[in-house]
Amino acid sequence: MTNPTIETIANTKIDVLIDSKTLQARITELSKVITKDYQGQDFLMVCILSGGVMFLTDLMRQISIPHQIDFMAVASYLQGITKSEGRVRITMDLLTDIEHINVLLVEDIIDTGYTLKHVLELLNSRSPKSLRVCTLLDKHERREVDIKLDYIGFQIPDKFVLGYGLDVDGYWRNLPYIGVVHT
Ligand code: IMP
Ligand code: MG
Repeated sequence: MTNPTIETIANTKIDVLIDSKTLQARITELSKVITKDYQGQDFLMVCILSGGVMFLTDLMRQISIPHQIDFMAVASYLQGITKSEGRVRITMDLLTDIEHINVLLVEDIIDTGYTLKHVLELLNSRSPKSLRVCTLLDKHERREVDIKLDYIGFQIPDKFVLGYGLDVDGYWRNLPYIGVVHT
């Protein structure tokens, strides 16, 4: 959708794919596993802006052990370059020096996997003590690169989803559920 106006957005019918209650119940489960896995260890949750922000804040509220957070932003693909050649461009870097730090990367969705692959390479080059990935959504059938996901909220079909942090042209991030445009 190009140049959406507020009116067309307001009139677009969205079908619910994962409702708010289901999302929150799964986040509770994930937070319990993460709390158990990082027991007694200091760790930093790194959120990739902007899509991961709702997931991060809901997840961290339920993690009952001490941890810190930081943010980074990436532009997924450079213009004119195909996905496979593309390198992510860091548009906002971490404030934290992650050397010798346990890092848990919090992502909204893994699609082809290229963005994550490049972010992992970059973070690994900074010698963290450990580096794991927690993604809310995994579009597994779209994967083009081999990457390890440590914590997965939901496997979803190959559909373009929005809401709960995920956007189309910057909108719909506020929806408390994951949806798809009604067709
Ligand atoms: P990948 O590099 O192909 O894995 O793409 C990852 C990024 O593309 C995600 O972090 C999202 O920003 C975006 N993306 C992929 N699929 C969707 C979707 O269904 N809805 C919204 N954004 C998506
Ligand atoms: Mg993202």
